[in-house]
Amino acid sequence: MHGKLIGVGVGPGDSELLTLRAVNVLRSVPVICAPRSSSERESIALSIVEDILTERRDGCRILDPVFPMTDDRDELESHWDSAARMVAAELEDGRDVAFITLGDPSIYSTFSYLQQRIEDMGFKTEMVPGVTSFTACAATAGRTLVEGDEILLVVPRVDDRFERVLRDVDACVIMKTSRHGRRAMEVVESDPRGKDVVSVANCSMDDEVVERGFASGGGYLATTLVRFREQS
Ligand SMILES: C[S@@+](CC[C@H](N)C(=O)[O-])C[C@H]1O[C@@H](n2cnc3c(N)ncnc32)[C@H](O)[C@@H]1O
Repeated sequence: MHGKLIGVGVGPGDSELLTLRAVNVLRSVPVICAPRSSSERESIALSIVEDILTERRDGCRILDPVFPMTDDRDELESHWDSAARMVAAELEDGRDVAFITLGDPSIYSTFSYLQQRIEDMGFKTEMVPGVTSFTACAATAGRTLVEGDEILLVVPRVDDRFERVLRDVDACVIMKTSRHGRRAMEVVESDPRGKDVVSVANCSMDDEVVERGFASGGGYLATTLVRFREQS
């Protein structure tokens, strides 16, 4: 019997936000795949589940392929291909592999690139949902994202499409804000409606920062929540 690949969402940072199902999988799988953005950096997802893995008496193998943060498509493809080969070797020998990913595996996660390759090779995959960063940010900020028949837009970048659809939505989540915060601010500010804007960096982590408005700086883990109010 071949093993299966399980994409496990580990939530935004605080290990209390792991689901029971994620914990059960992490306590039992023989192999964990925890990609890093560079060979010098530890995976954030791995640091979230560290205590669970340390408690394991039977131990488990950790695969830590590098998925660099680059827009170079060829470079990315070659890293994903090599990670897929690494994982496939374990599945071939009958071992399940849990691929841990920040937040939820269905939201802008590198899991999707690996999942496609592994399925194309004929192996089975599953997903364990996680608390996504933007709902955790909303909870931290004490804000409702949307209610009633309001429409929520979620974007990973600010481009022409964002500008076109913004006027038709009631609220938006802007992810990766540290990369395009200024443009996001200009576009949102140019909307004539009233608005509540809050940014959360490193949500649920020790160095969490909550700011009204757009994030003034900070690192990669920053998300901005916008809610429009109709002019009265
Ligand atoms: C590649 S996406 C991963 C999203 C993840 N799969 C999820 O469900 O939230 C990375 C972006 O998620 C957001 N993010 C992830 N963790 C976060 C955290 N702890 N606090 C704030 N934003 C976070 C940031 O916008 C970051 O740039």
